[in-house]
Amino acid sequence: MSTENIKFAYWVPNVSGGLVVSNIEQRTSWDIDYNRKLAQIAEKAGFEYALSQIRFTAGYGAEFQHESVSFSHALLAATTKLKVIAAILPGPWNPVLAAKQLATIDLLTEGRIAVNIVSGWFRGEFTAIGEHWWLDHNERYRRSKEFIEALKGIWTQDNFTYRGDFYRFSNYTLKPKPLQQPHPEIFQGGSSRAARDNAASVSDWYFTNGNTVEGIQTQVDDIRAKAAANNHQVKIGVNAFVIARDTEEEAKAVLAEIIAKANPDAVNAFGHEVKNAGAASPEKEGNWAKSTFEDLVQYNDGFKTNLIGTPQQIAERIVALKAVGVDLVLAGFLHFQEEVAYFGEKVLPLVRELEAKKLAKAA
Ligand SMILES: Cc1cc2nc3c(=O)[nH]c(=O)nc-3n(C[C@H](O)[C@H](O)[C@H](O)COP(=O)(O)O)c2cc1C
Repeated sequence: MSTENIKFAYWVPNVSGGLVVSNIEQRTSWDIDYNRKLAQIAEKAGFEYALSQIRFTAGYGAEFQHESVSFSHALLAATTKLKVIAAILPGPWNPVLAAKQLATIDLLTEGRIAVNIVSGWFRGEFTAIGEHWWLDHNERYRRSKEFIEALKGIWTQDNFTYRGDFYRFSNYTLKPKPLQQPHPEIFQGGSSRAARDNAASVSDWYFTNGNTVEGIQTQVDDIRAKAAANNHQVKIGVNAFVIARDTEEEAKAVLAEIIAKANPDAVNAFGHEVKNAGAASPEKEGNWAKSTFEDLVQYNDGFKTNLIGTPQQIAERIVALKAVGVDLVLAGFLHFQEEVAYFGEKVLPLVRELEAKKLAKAA
């Protein structure tokens, strides 16, 4: 097991509707004032990262969306330690714009920006925004791989020259370079073969949807074996929707209410879209291939990770995730400000205690 403490990130609610497609009350707002305060609460609570989302249209009821890079910058300006991961889509962004924009933010924020390269799953969104080049599943990942190689090249080299199928650079020198060395961290999500192969060759971090410990272990083992063969190091982040309450009954009742009040039309429309996107991969599977209606109510399968219960139960499950190779838990909540604070107060200290005990035992 890693000797490093497991890290925590939270989902930035920069799109409306919260993290579950349900009519249950969610005391969460997508506005900037709410989010600035949330970022401050989170860094105080012990969260090291925040992940903001990129959406141009609503796939599942997220009717309003703030753009991810500019929103991330605003959160960095309101905090002092938190790292904010901005999400971008190859297509609307090209690598040189992203490299320049993120390098500037890095310099303005003492080196605290990171980036999530989203390969895209929503054809309707791409068509709506004028991105008519909807590539096949594996071509999208091939483009993302070139995008990441170009980003790294621009950030780390002078006279950068690159000849890919999607991007070409000739003798380009970015000045100034970003503050973080060797470059801002690069995250990337998915779970298809192509997504995992990119993680095992070019990304610093691999994000995956929520899953059982066994399901995650299979992915981790697969990626780590491939990464080792490529002489590449990659860390793993897993999504989880956290419902921490003083009793297990309370936590389970919240989950039951979220599902009972789910918005079936929006959940089914989202399920249709993401299953189609995954079915287009050669292995006919994507992130959401086995997701049930209940799973899809949290749009990144966050219930499956089962961080639902008392602080002690959740802490034990987090340490079990760490034992199979997870480096970071990406957490979503119903009422973000209150629950991020509760997590920091009640769950995180127990995780640190369990980690220390395990280390002492191993020594
Ligand atoms: C943690 C995480 C965050 C993601 N964030 C976004 C996002 O902000 N916007 C978006 O359109 N897709 C997002 N995605 C979708 C992925 O980038 C990818 O397109 C999707 O998971 C399909 O993967 P697959 O092709 O391997 O099935 C995210 C996925 C994960 C796991």
